[in-house]
Amino acid sequence: MRILGIETSCDETAVAIYESGKGLLDHAVHSQIDLHRQYGGVVPELASRDHVRKVLPLLREVMARTDCSHASIDGVAYTAGPGLVGALLVGAAVGRSLALAWNVPAIGVHHMEAHLLAPMLESDPPAFPFLALLVSGGHTLLVAVTKMGCYEILGESLDDAAGEAFDKTATLLGLSYPGGPALAALALQGNPNRFRFPRPMTDRPGLDFSFSGLKTYAMNTLRKQGNDDETRADIARAFEDAVVETFVIKCRRALRATGMRRLVIAGGVGANQRLRAGLAGMTASEKAQLFYPRVAFCTDNAAMVAYTGWQRLQAGCRETDLAFTVRPRWSLSLLESLESNPECRA
Ligand code: KG4
Ligand code: ZN
Repeated sequence: MRILGIETSCDETAVAIYESGKGLLDHAVHSQIDLHRQYGGVVPELASRDHVRKVLPLLREVMARTDCSHASIDGVAYTAGPGLVGALLVGAAVGRSLALAWNVPAIGVHHMEAHLLAPMLESDPPAFPFLALLVSGGHTLLVAVTKMGCYEILGESLDDAAGEAFDKTATLLGLSYPGGPALAALALQGNPNRFRFPRPMTDRPGLDFSFSGLKTYAMNTLRKQGNDDETRADIARAFEDAVVETFVIKCRRALRATGMRRLVIAGGVGANQRLRAGLAGMTASEKAQLFYPRVAFCTDNAAMVAYTGWQRLQAGCRETDLAFTVRPRWSLSLLESLESNPECRA
């Protein structure tokens, strides 16, 4: 079974092809960073228009590189949500139209399920069950994954997502969009001992997160200490250390509470090297294993969408109605469980 994957939920246009037995054949990503940089963040209408421009050329590129004909595609998977409504509609319209024209089934994929399954594309994928820390620009979720398609949300952010907190703090520090990687780069020059930021919600039981206070803490520190280069780097370091230690504390707590021995980290913030190092140290001391996708599959891509669609199409999920819709807000807990996994609680 050969599946075409399309991702257009935010500011990356991406296309990939995944095949049973062979794995990922190829993928391509077009980033809109240059388009949005001058506005300091993603402009939804510009994002949609750019997806319209880029999705078919990318598709042709990937099909040519893999030597795949239309007739060899057995299904089309596209991101149906959560994300920006106009951006999602581009991928959905293209995905559903191609499926109709090629007479193959289509499936709308949940973007966070795709992030969660991205480590499955690596040579040493995690076995079930595992705990997943999903950290992207819009979501922060701690999920117990018992089987393919069986997800129980154990904790989530009550306010800003981790990536959002990185991006907003980066803006305060005068860094340009996208802020996460820029803040991480600045933090490399920071002194870890000058400031200590709080570790939000770690002093009480539970697995939820709150990151909006850290941004305020950074703003107040900046006001008090002055806006020189050294202070900005020290604040970046203190912010990053606070986020990383908060995740380390909560993930350790979740591993102990569930008795699970595997931790997956995925989503854009999963590209953060200090977070990976912090969780690697914690999992080693807990005698647990840590899994993460390569950096290119932490941030948005279509390989994870093609893989997730392949799993769901194989399990018999498909969209038959000619009408289609997208879901800009879509909780992972509302995701339809896989029919092949009747033990799913979701
Ligand atoms: O998963 P993703 O590519 O898109 C969404 O689904 O949201 O995540 C994007 C987020 C942005 O907030 C970006 O700043 C953050 O991931 N990010 C990072 C790093 N690379 C990307 N945050 C911290 N450190 C990084 N190295
Ligand atoms: Zn994403």
